[in-house]
Amino acid sequence: MKEIINGLSVFLEGNSKHKPIIFIHGFPYDHKMWKAQIDELSEKYFCVTYDIRGLGDSPAGEGQYTMESFVDDLESILQQLKLNKPVLCGLSMGGYISFRALERMEEKFSAIVLCDTRSEADNNEGKLKRASAIKRINTEGLAPFAKDFITNCFGDDYKKNSKEEFEKQIAKSSSFNPAGVKGCLLAMLGRNDTTDYLSKIKIPALVICGENDVLTPPTVMKPLAEKINGVEFVIIKNCGHMSPIEKPKEVTEAIKNFLGKL
Ligand code: MLT
Repeated sequence: MKEIINGLSVFLEGNSKHKPIIFIHGFPYDHKMWKAQIDELSEKYFCVTYDIRGLGDSPAGEGQYTMESFVDDLESILQQLKLNKPVLCGLSMGGYISFRALERMEEKFSAIVLCDTRSEADNNEGKLKRASAIKRINTEGLAPFAKDFITNCFGDDYKKNSKEEFEKQIAKSSSFNPAGVKGCLLAMLGRNDTTDYLSKIKIPALVICGENDVLTPPTVMKPLAEKINGVEFVIIKNCGHMSPIEKPKEVTEAIKNFLGKL
């Protein structure tokens, strides 16, 4: 079922009386990124996901966002749906939103799942890369950027064995509103560093990382996980940055096992 909350497209699956999980997708994707996980987990959990403002079905508006405004959006969904201590589950940019949400309001969540993400803010090189991405979108349109960015996200196995799905993903992201995509790049460029908060996280945490993720590799995610008390850290073999799409069974299994222990 789809609902519009605060202008955002929000998708609900499963029985609203069950334990809620809220899923936040990565950049430049949409809520469908979590389809495989939600198909299975919605049998036992109330699964909520949404399109981040400017991406997918959520309108771009003026295309001016900050990580704070993304957390405000998340908060508006929690409030509107009256979600009682959901599990928060974010991938990459969805992870950036999740980290900042924990810093602001950890008491509103019961557990956290972080896939292929990092707590550090962009360094100078990263900021300049975002700036040249915006310039490229302005001069060449969205499609060439989307193609290169998404090609970097997926592991070789997926690109070889799921060529059609991979091409579909590029076509879909290329059709997003460029103002929304650029707004997300600026929000990521301007986000704060949440590394200091990792050791303060009190709720149970699962960290998942694709073995061959080149954007947030295990060398970044293992030290991240080590800073969180009592964390469970899972490496997904033969997998790039988009672990829930590339290895749906393994990621769903890891989340299911973690949730079963809560
Ligand atoms: C994502 O998957 O959300 C992006 O890789 C995040 C980023 O560009 O930092």
